[in-house]
Amino acid sequence: MCSIIGYKGQLNVASVLVDSLKRMEYRGYDSVGIATINNGKILVKKDVGRVADVNKSLDLGRMPGHTGIGHTRWATHGGVTDKNAHPHYGCTDRIAIVHNGIIENYRELREELIFLGHIFISDTDSEVIAHLLERYYAEQKNIKKTIIQTCRRLKGTYAFVAAFEDGTICGSRYDEPLIIGSVNNGYFISSDVLGFLEYTDKAVFLENRDIVIVDSETCHIFDLEGNIVNRPITKVAWELAAIDKGKYAHHTLKEIHEQPKIVEKTGTQNLKIQEFCNILTNSKTVLLTGSGTSYHSALIAKHILSKFAKIRAEAIMSSEFQYTFDAIDNTSVLIAISQSGETADVLQSVKAAKQMGARILSIVNNPTSSLARISDSSLSIDCGPEIGVAATKSFTAQLSLIYTIVDRLCKGCLDFEANKASLVDALRQVLDTEIQIHSIAEGLRDARDIYIIGRSIHYAIALEGALKIKELAYIHTEGIAAGELKHGPLALIDRNSYVLLVNPNDIASEDNISSAYEIKARGATIIGISDRPNNVYDIFIKIPSVKSTFYPIIEVLPFQILAYYLALAKNADPDYPRNLAKSVTVK
Ligand code: F6R
Repeated sequence: MCSIIGYKGQLNVASVLVDSLKRMEYRGYDSVGIATINNGKILVKKDVGRVADVNKSLDLGRMPGHTGIGHTRWATHGGVTDKNAHPHYGCTDRIAIVHNGIIENYRELREELIFLGHIFISDTDSEVIAHLLERYYAEQKNIKKTIIQTCRRLKGTYAFVAAFEDGTICGSRYDEPLIIGSVNNGYFISSDVLGFLEYTDKAVFLENRDIVIVDSETCHIFDLEGNIVNRPITKVAWELAAIDKGKYAHHTLKEIHEQPKIVEKTGTQNLKIQEFCNILTNSKTVLLTGSGTSYHSALIAKHILSKFAKIRAEAIMSSEFQYTFDAIDNTSVLIAISQSGETADVLQSVKAAKQMGARILSIVNNPTSSLARISDSSLSIDCGPEIGVAATKSFTAQLSLIYTIVDRLCKGCLDFEANKASLVDALRQVLDTEIQIHSIAEGLRDARDIYIIGRSIHYAIALEGALKIKELAYIHTEGIAAGELKHGPLALIDRNSYVLLVNPNDIASEDNISSAYEIKARGATIIGISDRPNNVYDIFIKIPSVKSTFYPIIEVLPFQILAYYLALAKNADPDYPRNLAKSVTVK
C-alpha cells in the first residue's frame, strides 16, 4: 500500500526520496509524487505510474533542496489520477502533505473547511490534512500547536508527514506505521524501515498519536498534550543486499528458489519458541488468525496442532474475526500470523482479542512490526525481506516455524529436525520441475477456469495454490475440498476445465483418485501433483516422497512456479501484480 518518506539533512533530497520510494515499491502503488523545499518555496511534482517512469518524465530526482517528502499512492478515495496523487497542498503552496490510511471523517472536515473558504483540488480523504494544517497554522503560526490541533480533529487511521515552507517537516501516526531514521546531520520519517535502511539502521518507532517535528537542527517527539516523549532507538537488522534480484529475472522467482535454505535454518530461536509453547499449553482456547496466504498457514497450523499436539484450535480469517468471535477471555490465546505484521485486518482482530483478555502470540517476518510489538510473544520467520508482492517464501517459512512449534509441543513426535535434511532435499527436487511447469503454464495460458482439488491438510494448499494463480496470472482459479465436489462444484467441470489435484501418498490419496475419475468422466484435463503416478492423470508433476505430515511444505512449490510462469505467459509482472499490496494497511 502507500509509502511515505520524508527527509531533512545535508544530502540532495530529491534523489534520496526517489531511491527510497523505489526501495518501497514492493508494497504496491499506482502513482508517485515528491515535494521539496528550497529557498522557502515548496515545489510538488507527481503523476500516475511507476517511480522510474515518473522520475524520467518529470525529472523528480533533480528537484532542488535538502528537505522534502515523497509518496507512492495506492488509491482508496478517488481514482488513479495525477491530481489525486500525493503530495497535496492546502490552498497555497506553503504546506504540503503525504498520507497513508483512511480519514473516516474527511467528508465533514471537508465541508467545514469549504465553508471557511478552502478550495479542494483532489477527491482524496488525505487532502483535508493539508487544509487543516493550513487553517490552524494561519491562526497561530506555531507548528507544534498546529499539528496537535490537526491530529485532534482526525478520525480513522493515519500516518502523515507534512512539509512547511520554513523547512520544517513533521508527522504523526495512528494505527499506520511511522518510523524515524536518524543519520549524521539529518533525519528520515518513513512508513517502512526500507525507506532509509541504506543510510541508517537506527530507527525510532513512533507510538500511536506521537507527533514528530524535525526543524533546523533537532528532532523532537511529543504526545498529543504537547509533552516531550522519549522513544527508544531500535537497531534494525535487515540486510539490504537481500533486495537484489541476483541472477533471477524477478524477485518472485528468486524468492521461490530461496525456500530450501529458509527451511534449513528454521528453529534457531530456541528460548522464544519455548516461551511460545508455554503460553499455548497454559491456555484453554486457542485461536489462529491471518489474511490471505497467512490465513492458509493458520489452517495448516490448526490441523497439525490438533492432530499432533492434541490442542484444539480454531482458524478465523482476520477480516471475519470481528463478526465471529465473542468467546474470548483471559484463558484464551490468539496466534496471529502475518508476513508484514502490518495488515489492518490482523491488527484489528488482535486488538479486539486483547481487549477481551486474550494473550497474543504472533508469527511475523518483521520483528519490529506493529503486530510483533503488541504481542505478548512474537516469533520471526526470519526469511529476509520478501519483495515479490505475492507471498511465496514467507509461506514456507511460516509453515516451517509452525511445524517446529508443534514438534516442541508434542515432545518431538514429528521428528521435524531429523527430517529437515530430506525435506530440504525434496524442496530442491521440486524446484527441478521448473522447466516442466514452465511448459505446462504455456499450455494453460488461455484457460478460463482452473480448479485445484485437495483433501484434508492439502485443502489449505489447494486454496493457497488458487490464490497464487489468481493474484499473479489473473485467471479464475478455485481451491475446492475434494470431498465437496459431489455437493455442487462438479457441475462446473467439463472438457474445457483444467483440474490440478494435490495428491501425495497419504490417507486421503485413494479417495482423491476416485474424485479424479469423476472429474475425468466429465472430460476435464487432470494434472496430478504427487509422488506416485496414476493413469487418471493427463499430466503428472512428480514431487519426492517425504514423511506424510510434511507434504504441505513441498507441494505448494509447483503452484508458486506455475503461477509465476502463467503470469509471464500472460505478460503480467509477477513481482507487482495488479491490485495487490504487500502491506494491506487499510480495512
Ligand atoms: C498473497 C498475499 C496476500 C497476503 C495477505 C496478508 O500472496 O500476498 O494475500 O498474504 O495480504 O499479508 P500479511 O501476511 O502481511 O498479513
